[in-house]
Amino acid sequence: MTAKLIKGTEIRDEILKEIEAGVKDIKEKHGVVPGLVTILVGENPASISYVTAKIKTAKALGFNEIQDNQSPDMTTEELLVLIDKYNKDDAINGILVQLPLPKGVDEKKVLNAIDPDKDVDGFHPINVGRLMIGGPEVKFPPCTPAGIQEMIVRSGIETSGAEVVVVGRSNIVGKPIANMMLQKADGANATVTIVHTRTKDLAAHCKRADILIVAAGVPGLVKPEWIKPGACVIDVGVNRVGEKISEKTGKKIALLKGDVDFDEAKEIAGYITPVPGGVGPMTITMLMKNTLNSLKFKLGLM
Ligand code: GUN
Repeated sequence: MTAKLIKGTEIRDEILKEIEAGVKDIKEKHGVVPGLVTILVGENPASISYVTAKIKTAKALGFNEIQDNQSPDMTTEELLVLIDKYNKDDAINGILVQLPLPKGVDEKKVLNAIDPDKDVDGFHPINVGRLMIGGPEVKFPPCTPAGIQEMIVRSGIETSGAEVVVVGRSNIVGKPIANMMLQKADGANATVTIVHTRTKDLAAHCKRADILIVAAGVPGLVKPEWIKPGACVIDVGVNRVGEKISEKTGKKIALLKGDVDFDEAKEIAGYITPVPGGVGPMTITMLMKNTLNSLKFKLGLM
């Protein structure tokens, strides 16, 4: 292996310690803790596992955590009423509606109904706009892109002037990370290209990348020969390609594969994130950071 492994689990632990200290400080000085509600509609197995991990982390940090599980046949109107309740709840600083929502629920209406000052996912159009403007306007950078940027910065990778190629144009990862990396700011200042399913020559663009961020949701899409020697490769793909028995628990767990052919890519890249244990743990961590920051904004500490 030539590439240095960027371990999301290690960077996560570092940031969680910082958040824990922040929670303790606010509790001592102001007598309050961050409040987070996670709303899960339906029984999508991947969503259940993500929400379970979010709740566990929030509780470990001493947050006030509310887990609100709803039936798969909940209507858009019912969900809007629920969101309104949490918008008005003074003990709640962050509202997270786990995506995807069941078919028939209007995702756009739901995301637009969340109070932008409690939108710790950063999906409300106001927060998307703030992200585009950049600088002090930004309150809640979306969690996966924020985690990716932290991984790059904390690994000491130069971003200024770097060729960043983003594979994928989703609202959750591709578009926001591209936006963040091109801002006039530390940890950014990059030259950014977004490539997608209609791009004519994916390989040619990827080969130019000093930092290649892959969020396509296609297992093994990026071939080793597309990677520039020494490049930093961030694999956001979490593709369930089967099941395996966990060595730790003996239970069946999902077998995950990234969007990059890891075994071969690690021999060419300079830095690479593994799947699992790369970007995944960072998403949850940044959600916690946004929730703590939401409380800090409210208290006038930021
Ligand atoms: N589904 C996949 N990623 C996310 C995320 O970051 N936030 C929410 N709410 N749902 C998701």
